[in-house]
Amino acid sequence: MKSLDQSPLDPDFVQNPYPFYDIAREQGPLFHWNDYSIPCATGFSSVNDLLRDRRFGREMPADLKAETPEHLASFYALEQHSLLELEPPKHTRIHSLLVRTFTNRRVNDLALEIDQISHLLCDKINDQPFDLIKDFAEHIPVIIICRMLGVPEDMGPQLLRWSHDMVAMYQARRDRDIEDRAVTASLAFSDYIQQLMLERQKNPQNDLISHLIKARNQDEKLSEKELITTCILLLNAGHEATVHSISNAVKVLLETGQPPISFFKDEKSTLRAVDETIRFDPPLHMFTRIAL
Ligand code: HEM
Repeated sequence: MKSLDQSPLDPDFVQNPYPFYDIAREQGPLFHWNDYSIPCATGFSSVNDLLRDRRFGREMPADLKAETPEHLASFYALEQHSLLELEPPKHTRIHSLLVRTFTNRRVNDLALEIDQISHLLCDKINDQPFDLIKDFAEHIPVIIICRMLGVPEDMGPQLLRWSHDMVAMYQARRDRDIEDRAVTASLAFSDYIQQLMLERQKNPQNDLISHLIKARNQDEKLSEKELITTCILLLNAGHEATVHSISNAVKVLLETGQPPISFFKDEKSTLRAVDETIRFDPPLHMFTRIAL
């Protein structure tokens, strides 16, 4: 396996990682990324094979888990229940409970709400110069995730601050300051969801927290900690990827030089444009698996 050096913090790489990916793919299906000290798969078929191979997983075997530093204990006490870190049977149990709350009807209702919010935001922009991320992309996922969870929308900005502080733990640049902020955010976020759970226990609504509480009470299938972590994960996993998918897609489509409307002339073209822009310039570039 060939080895390559590329700092993930190099500003040129951050702006445009694709020339490095071209070099990496030329090395064959795997290369060793020295800066991360791990082997990486690059092409479609090797990544596809690895993700489907049950000999690789997301959960570090207990005997290989590094000891959690004391100052990060409360952060990892939450993260250990995250779907992104789990293997079956625990993953299957939580995943199937979550999927059951995403009914077709609820998703279709949300699609209408996304449409409305998008139009309202466009109307506000009103032909003035604007910042696509700040004035448009950032608003949609947080409002929708708040509505989905049953969190009051005016909590959106606070939820985003907690979410940014927590996901910073998974960026290439991480120091003690980032770690301390992530711990503070995870404690505050978790307290907030716990309070909301108590309130929804007394007064259930047609929202995801109430549905998950009901599922937990019926079958005793979800612990309180798992429920809190799952709610936090929905915001943390759902926000940033969506913001950057919207902004990358708009940039890519404008750079084609084609009239933007031509990508959305019917439902089939729209779906193709969405899939293809996420494939061509995705918001997330790297996922890890552990050889079990
Ligand atoms: C275009 C936007 C999005 C992209 C590109 C994206 C991408 C991904 C990817 C690649 C994974 C798999 C991670 C792995 O296998 O290690 C994942 C998992 C997940 N995503 Fe997203 N995501 C997006 C939007 C969302 C949204 C809007 C939500 C929630 C509201 C969400 C919630 C989740 C959850 C809960 C998981 C874990 C699923 C499981 O393990 O069962 N994502 N996402």
